[in-house]
Amino acid sequence: MNDGDVARTAQERRFGPLGTALVIIPTYNEAENVKSIVRRVRAAVPDAHVLVADDNSPDGTGKLADELAVEDAQVHVLHRKGKEGLGAAYLAGFRWGLEHDYGVLVEMDADGSHQPEELPRLLTALKSADLVLGSRWVPGGRVVNWPKSREVISRGGSFYSRVALDLPLRDITGGYRAFRRETLEGLGLENVASQGYCFQVDLARRAVKAGFQVVEVPITFVERELGDSKMSRDILVEALWRVTTWGVGERIGRITARGKRPQA
Ligand code: GDD
Ligand code: MN
Repeated sequence: MNDGDVARTAQERRFGPLGTALVIIPTYNEAENVKSIVRRVRAAVPDAHVLVADDNSPDGTGKLADELAVEDAQVHVLHRKGKEGLGAAYLAGFRWGLEHDYGVLVEMDADGSHQPEELPRLLTALKSADLVLGSRWVPGGRVVNWPKSREVISRGGSFYSRVALDLPLRDITGGYRAFRRETLEGLGLENVASQGYCFQVDLARRAVKAGFQVVEVPITFVERELGDSKMSRDILVEALWRVTTWGVGERIGRITARGKRPQA
């Protein structure tokens, strides 16, 4: 057996087959987008199932999703009682997906920013990884039609998270991701308190700290043409204080651990 064989054997042992994917799409007032995004996912990855996680959108998004589910057995809808944030919607979606035995759980926005046509590439990368991040900020990744102000916030958010949390990743706030079920099961989701978009930073941080193999794949993020972004000042403030708190906590933890090490 040469070295190549050893490496291959280790990898085969580590990464099992993928199993059926569930694409979770959180929605709040996405009536203009929900039907088109679900159809695009079904066409791009015909074996995958879709779960729309709707927070009782006043614009009737949930009802439109129900219409899709009636005509397609691979489309499911999770109706939640009200707007509780992206993090809570994903946690509920993950729980549903794990209970229903899916092997892969995918995060995707409803507004077309995450192109379903790129999903096969993410899933191919997941064959030899625990978590794949669709990344705007690695070579080959890009954003289309984003105002400069949003790009500054996003790049700044990733940079701050990278330094404060010591993470070897470029796009830490992005929301186009594919997880193996075993990865989600190893993240301690029951302790996740993040509500807004810092949920994404929280999960990336947990995955790296737990020793999972996290891979970034370049994507083209296309700004929505229809409907409005739900990004708000509150979401930014939550992200800033949580990332700072995690960063400070980790540093204190490291110093305390050093102090406790037995002296030689
Ligand atoms: N169910 C539910 N509940 N869905 C929500 C909520 C909520 O409270 N808030 C937002 N969503 C859904 C939207 O309907 C959309 O499908 C998706 O989450 C993303 O929301 P956008 O408002 O379009 O986000 P964005 O384009 O400003 O931000 C994107 O970039 C961020 C920074 O990189 C997203 O990809 C974020 O995940 C990402 O963190
Ligand atoms: Mn968007």
